[in-house]
Amino acid sequence: MVKLEIDNREIRVETGTTILQAARMNGIAIPTLCYHEALEPYAACRLCVVELASARGKLVAACAQPCEEGMDVLTSSPRVQNSRRITAELLMASGAHLPLVEAIAQAMGVQWARYSLPANDCILCGLCVRACDELVGARAISLVKRGLEKQVAAPFEIASAACIGCATCALICPTGAIALADITPAPHSAHDPRTCRVCGEQSLPQKFADVEALLKEEVQPA
Ligand code: SF4
Ligand code: FES
Repeated sequence: MVKLEIDNREIRVETGTTILQAARMNGIAIPTLCYHEALEPYAACRLCVVELASARGKLVAACAQPCEEGMDVLTSSPRVQNSRRITAELLMASGAHLPLVEAIAQAMGVQWARYSLPANDCILCGLCVRACDELVGARAISLVKRGLEKQVAAPFEIASAACIGCATCALICPTGAIALADITPAPHSAHDPRTCRVCGEQSLPQKFADVEALLKEEVQPA
């Protein structure tokens, strides 16, 4: 067990518990965005930052930082609030049109952003990529390119045979950036209409139709 203070409350938790888990177990709210209970911590969005008063005011991601003996954690100090406001502004730069981003900005008291980028439904939280890897085990999509060009895509941006059309990516996406499209021919659409728009993988009935066509070609007399 380790003993620490969160917002001046003495708390005891098991070794390995993160600050976020410890706070939530004790009814202390910390906002999160890229965190999901079913996935490994990613520490990308920085919305969950807290201040370690015991470490000269260092800001750490509560979702990934394990509790340590003697820690003194502040979850809503001026430094923390300032950092979260900047995060909200950065999210607004390309996602101000998204209800989720609007709600985050409102919660942080941010009215407008100093930064501006082309509107994008994807906020690069990485939830879809990690769910595809950690929960489904397919690794059909990943975060590709860098900087302003960073995006979620299938490897080499071509249809991925690894996609099983489970739609986990679309279900976990907090902004609705991933949509499913039905490209299955009419006779099959009643069976499995799901096709992933990110990786472009066809649904199973379409795959079978393709294989059937190939087989027919192969047995045609020359
Ligand atoms: S597509 Fe959705 S889940 Fe995936 S990184 Fe973008 S916002 Fe996050
Ligand atoms: S929720 Fe912790 S960094 Fe995103």
